[in-house]
Amino acid sequence: MRVHRVVCPGSFDPVTNGHLDIISRAARLHDEVLVVVGANRAKHGMFTVAERVALLEEVTKDLPNVSVDTFRGLLVEYCRARGVSAIVKGLRAVSDFEYEMEMAQMNYRLAEVETLFMTANPLYSFLRSSLVREIAAYGGNVSSLVPAPVDAQLRAKLAEPGPG
Ligand code: PNS
Repeated sequence: MRVHRVVCPGSFDPVTNGHLDIISRAARLHDEVLVVVGANRAKHGMFTVAERVALLEEVTKDLPNVSVDTFRGLLVEYCRARGVSAIVKGLRAVSDFEYEMEMAQMNYRLAEVETLFMTANPLYSFLRSSLVREIAAYGGNVSSLVPAPVDAQLRAKLAEPGPG
C-alpha cells in the first residue's frame, strides 16, 4: 500500500499553538506527517535548528504518525527524496495567500509537488513566531500562544546574559 506522507514545513522559531493546531489536524487526515524545519536561513533566528527540532519533538510526542526532521536547499528536493505526496500549509488570513500561492505554484512547477492549504483556527489567526519572540523579549506573557515547553525555553533563553 502506498503511504500517504505529507510535510508541514516552516521555520518554527519557535513552534506556536497555531503550528501545533495545523500539525495535529494534518495528522488526522494523512498517514504520516513530517514536520520539517528549514535550515537555510536558520542562523539568523532566536532558536538553533537543534532547539527547534527538540521543541517540536516534545510538543508532538503524543501524535504517533508525526515525526520531525530538518531540510536544506529546496523543499521540493526533500519531498522527492522522501516520497512525499504533498506540502501542507496553514493560511491565517488573506494576507498569507499571495505569498503562499506563489510558493505553491512554483513548487508544482519545479517538481509537481502539490500544496494543500488548511485554514487556521480563528483563535490563532493573528499568531506568528516573530510576534511571540518580540512580546517575550519585552517581558509580555505568551503562555497562551505557545506550548508550555516553548514558553519555558523562551523564558530561559531571555534570562541568559546577552552580548551587551
Ligand atoms: O515558516 P516560514 O518561514 O514561512 O517557512 C518558509 C519555508 C521554510 C517553508 C520556505 O521558505 C521554504 O520552503 N524554503 C525552502 C527553500 C525553497 O524551497 N524555496 C523555494 C520556494 S518556491
